[in-house]
Amino acid sequence: MTATLVRPAWTTDYEVETFNRLIAQYAPHLPTQKLHDPRPIASAAELENFYPYRVSGAAHDLFIVQLCAKAIDRLFLQDAEVQLFLSRQIGDDGAHALDTYQRVQELSGQDPIEQINQQVQYHWDYLGDAPTRNWIGFLAWQLHYELHIVSTLLLTSRLTRINDPGSASFAAERILPDEFVHRQAVVQWWQRKYDQASLAERSEWSAQLLALDEEIQKRRNPYLKDFWQRAQRALGFEVEGFEVIYDAWRREVLAYFLNIPTEQLPKLVSLND
Ligand SMILES: [Fe+2]
Ligand SMILES: [Fe+2]
Repeated sequence: MTATLVRPAWTTDYEVETFNRLIAQYAPHLPTQKLHDPRPIASAAELENFYPYRVSGAAHDLFIVQLCAKAIDRLFLQDAEVQLFLSRQIGDDGAHALDTYQRVQELSGQDPIEQINQQVQYHWDYLGDAPTRNWIGFLAWQLHYELHIVSTLLLTSRLTRINDPGSASFAAERILPDEFVHRQAVVQWWQRKYDQASLAERSEWSAQLLALDEEIQKRRNPYLKDFWQRAQRALGFEVEGFEVIYDAWRREVLAYFLNIPTEQLPKLVSLND
């Protein structure tokens, strides 16, 4: 028999407590709180490292806009509930992309629009049709782009030594609260569906969600490895053990979504694979 759990509510406190528990368990050398007060970019070399990192950020957000718009058209034309939270996500992530684009332009004096375009295309290329194959593929994609990356966001915010004050204040005031709303919308949408589903549906959906999440992880690994290098160079830190904590956090998210203990999940694809 499969054990199910009473899930705690998905809150920012729950995220931080869970992440810190995983750090204690798997990578105790990683910080459980913010280590530094970052200083502004101070040289042309630092700006050169910061530029590609922020271009990646703008492309990530703009890709979310494109994919959510496509999903409304291809998968959710009959589903007003999903349309409502996706339209909020499109507006927010579009605003994040635009702000990042404008900041990069101001800082560097260059127009990164072509690089942003190319990188958005790279997301489409490496993911293939996995996110739009069916609604569960779309959910698996949301897990990757909104929930699994929480490990990356928490870790970089604690380790960052160098930043751009303009980007940092926009992130604190606008991006962080928006992103939590996006995660919560996905959690609530799925929970309602899953909790109301029959046993047969649940086991079918669970199997599909795991398979699609695994497929996307495999497709995404080269991007993530490269992104982590960009982040470290831009933000002025170097640390071992990101892969271990990324894997552990992702496992925790999947167990939460499937409402089972993490031990009941099979061995998953690793960021190291
Ligand atoms: Fe965003
Ligand atoms: Fe988002």
